[in-house]
Amino acid sequence: MSRVLSAVAWPYANGPRHIGHVAGFGVPSDVFSRYMRMAGHDVLMVSGTDEHGTPILVAADKEGISARELADRNNRLIVEDLVALGLSYDLFTRTTTGNHYEVARSMFATVRDNGYMIEKTMGAAISPSTGRTLPDRYIEGKCPLCGYEGARGDQCDNCGKQLDPTDLINPKSKINGETPEFVETAHYFLDLPALAEALGEWLDEREKSGTWRPNVIRFSQNILEEIKPRAMTRDLDWGIPVPGWEDQPNKRLYVWFDAVIGYLSATIEWARRTGDPEAWRKWWNDPEALSYYFMGKDNIVFHSQIWPAELLGYNGSGAKGGKPGELGQLNLPTEVVSSEFLTMEGRKFASSRGIVIYVRDMLERYQADALRYFISAAGPETHDADFTWTEFVRRTNGELVAGWGNLVNRVASMIHKRFGQIPQPGVLEKVDQELLQQIQDGFTEVGDLIRHHHQKAAITALMRLVGEANRYVADTEPFKLKSEDEMPRLATILWTLAQAVADLNLMLSPFLPFSANQIDLVFGGQGKVAPMPVIEEVTDLDVNNEDGSPRQYPIITGTYEPPSWERHDIQVGTPVAKPKPVFQKLDEAVIEEELERYANLLP
Ligand code: MF3
Ligand code: ZN
Repeated sequence: MSRVLSAVAWPYANGPRHIGHVAGFGVPSDVFSRYMRMAGHDVLMVSGTDEHGTPILVAADKEGISARELADRNNRLIVEDLVALGLSYDLFTRTTTGNHYEVARSMFATVRDNGYMIEKTMGAAISPSTGRTLPDRYIEGKCPLCGYEGARGDQCDNCGKQLDPTDLINPKSKINGETPEFVETAHYFLDLPALAEALGEWLDEREKSGTWRPNVIRFSQNILEEIKPRAMTRDLDWGIPVPGWEDQPNKRLYVWFDAVIGYLSATIEWARRTGDPEAWRKWWNDPEALSYYFMGKDNIVFHSQIWPAELLGYNGSGAKGGKPGELGQLNLPTEVVSSEFLTMEGRKFASSRGIVIYVRDMLERYQADALRYFISAAGPETHDADFTWTEFVRRTNGELVAGWGNLVNRVASMIHKRFGQIPQPGVLEKVDQELLQQIQDGFTEVGDLIRHHHQKAAITALMRLVGEANRYVADTEPFKLKSEDEMPRLATILWTLAQAVADLNLMLSPFLPFSANQIDLVFGGQGKVAPMPVIEEVTDLDVNNEDGSPRQYPIITGTYEPPSWERHDIQVGTPVAKPKPVFQKLDEAVIEEELERYANLLP
């Protein structure tokens, strides 16, 4: 048994999340966590909404509401969506809690006191009317190289050249059209060069473990070559106040500096809420504990460089020495598990242009397990992947409905009709034993695959076993056994199939938790093979609203005690219900209907 931290990337609360997001961080982390719990590990799965930074401010300004109001609203929407998708967080919280502010500030202070924060000035573009930093991509102007009018402060989309905001001719803020002011402003920079050697050693050791995806480890090692100090504060009035700069309310911690600390602060919040406030240490201070970080590839640098650098600085493990802060020596990531990008009908998701499928819309129209299946079987695990409605309908109907759903349905119907309960088997024949043996072997094979983040291969192996069971039905033809003297053989076949379905259902439960519970009910179980997350309304542990009222927010949590990852013998005599189809077959017309919605947006 190991302690396992499932650290899931924190979705931005600047809007609702789309299926590309949950394909990156959501479903893979849930499959892994559900499996690891079944395999007997002590799993803690944490995350929350990422609520600071410029995009939130921009979205709030656009609507004429405060950043906090916007974050409150999106936090709740995102919480609801992630629960509807069955993601089994032990705690899903947010970055605006009093607890998170305190942990982030204490981390910053220790990293600084250990010598890993350098104070220096830099040139920055700010909005003259608000004093807020204007990130490079929010500045637009004419490209000095090609004359393109819509060039951004970070690059020109026309000629592809990298730019600095000061290169632009006639620069304007994309937020409100005003001309940015370029000023010299003081900031704290994380001294990454002083941590580079320690980072390199950690990466080399991780490489030797051989478990990281090759592209992720290579990318992480490459970016070490050009490491330089990076600003960890911003000129903004939304974010966590900088320790020591409390008299400067227009300076806040950089959103990425605080967001990654969320993994730690959420574990601490979880412990405080369970009544054992020191319990978090088992995942962070014990060097034996394992930690897996799940995200889309645009997040890799923050998880394989910035976050480990913050941890090393906190531990006092860089070239400048130092000693751990009050939280003690903290564990660096065991593995950074990154997926690639999901596109939609060959296009990048672009919420602003309506090229998007929101999680909520998807789940209002289709079963959560159908989306989970698509992501697991065809998602961007190690390569970019494309979501198309044609493929979604094909996978749902051809694999879920006709493969697994059909097997469950046939087996339950036959048992219900002929015996009404799991029958007593006679002596097993070779075919029966072979099927059961193959499926039993699946526990090892599939478990290993999930453990090593080969979820596509795992679900392929499972669907192959489903195919074997369907073939067994075709070979043994139980539906033809009608006479009295064929009853014993019929009982043996149906018993074999009931055991096979129970095993397969258990192994599929990390991928398809909703149907796993439904199928378990049909076969006389409690419908609890895949424990489900719940939303709880809680009060902030440390701070109140500005008007003194308690600050309330929804969290995702749950009690997750799934059955163990092994064969559980079925019980003769358990009643079997008349099944209703578990998976909804999709009409081909769905494809046209859905494409209609984007008709004028796609080529
Ligand atoms: N909010 C970021 C995104 O959606 C992810 C932050 S992960 C964290 O890309 F760990 F930093 F929180
Ligand atoms: Zn250009």
